[in-house]
Amino acid sequence: MFDSLNPLPADPILGLMAAHRSDSNPRKIDLGVGVYKDEQGNTPVMRAVKSAEARLLADQTSKSYVSPAGLATFNALIASLVLGDELTKTLGDRRVTFQTPGGCGGLRLAAEFIQKVRPASKILVSDPTWANHVPLLGEAGLQIETYPYYDHKNHGIRFDAMIERLSKAAAGDLVLLHGCCHNPCGADLSNEQWQAVAELAQTNGFTPFIDLAYQGLGDGLAEDSYGVRLLAEKLPELIVVSSCSKNFGLYRERTGSLTVIAGSSEAARASASQIAATARAIYSMPPDHGASVVAEILADDTLNSDWELELTEVRERINGLRSALVTELDRQGIDRDFSFIEQEKGMFSFLGLSVDQVQTLINQYSIYLVDSSRINIAGINSSNIEYLAQSIAEAVKR
Ligand code: LMR
Repeated sequence: MFDSLNPLPADPILGLMAAHRSDSNPRKIDLGVGVYKDEQGNTPVMRAVKSAEARLLADQTSKSYVSPAGLATFNALIASLVLGDELTKTLGDRRVTFQTPGGCGGLRLAAEFIQKVRPASKILVSDPTWANHVPLLGEAGLQIETYPYYDHKNHGIRFDAMIERLSKAAAGDLVLLHGCCHNPCGADLSNEQWQAVAELAQTNGFTPFIDLAYQGLGDGLAEDSYGVRLLAEKLPELIVVSSCSKNFGLYRERTGSLTVIAGSSEAARASASQIAATARAIYSMPPDHGASVVAEILADDTLNSDWELELTEVRERINGLRSALVTELDRQGIDRDFSFIEQEKGMFSFLGLSVDQVQTLINQYSIYLVDSSRINIAGINSSNIEYLAQSIAEAVKR
């Protein structure tokens, strides 16, 4: 059965983790996969997560099955985190939320659900988008097309071109939007641009599908969900997938959610039963631990405040690193304006280097980044920033 198989190339993002690990250069830097790192280069377990885990260890009385939808308490609390308390109340039974195995599991579950109820639906994704969006959505059977998004030359959003393309999307089409902290480019829609997208969706009837993987890492928890909340308020139908990998640091615990907002409570109920059957046919039920931790934190004022405080420290550190990198690149005398890095949000920005220059950074300097020149800003610290900027300067001059 397996004799004729050929090995596939490594995943463009995850492959960098292994390559960095096996590099013996003491100056090596990992700017590849999107995980938060502190000043010492560690990815810590957040304080509130540790406390919640201690409580669970002491208090959890059963490991019995829960359900394909996961923990009801997690689903209610995560919906409020994403949509806000007021809107969650207003939406009432038009909203259903499922706990999912990470954001990836949520994206795939949504795609399988759509494929089941409207086979071969078209989904428009931004150009560029996160590399894994394409297999996650496409391998479920959705037809993927792109809309213009990032202008690599001017380091901004090609908003007119984006709107022109979206104006051709119609009822039955899906449009994938990054809720905040666009991965890979870090350039986010302004509030006015979100309003324009909402108006277009209202007029043309396409269904926005929002991937919210970095809530709290851009400008703040509420600020980062401006677009999600606006669309949820204005439109009859919406799909939102959220991840707890980055904002709770729960990467390996695979904790995420899928929310579907439907035009009526009957339609939401029917959607929920279809999604439950879809989950049951893929993985039956999501893993519990991460969701139990998040529910414990969000339901407890003390843990919640401490979590928000630590998340603010994470966000401020990333924003500080953005400014520090721009200053350091400037100090190296590179004849380029890198100030856009300071305006962009979240973990990622493109450096604007060619594939050859990226390969030089990897092979000559042991600095690991994605071929597109996307870097994980959180991989920078005060001991590697000078070496990083010097190496970029040398790679650019070659
Ligand atoms: C990334 O883009 O690096 C992260 O979202 C991690 C991943 O799974 O690719």
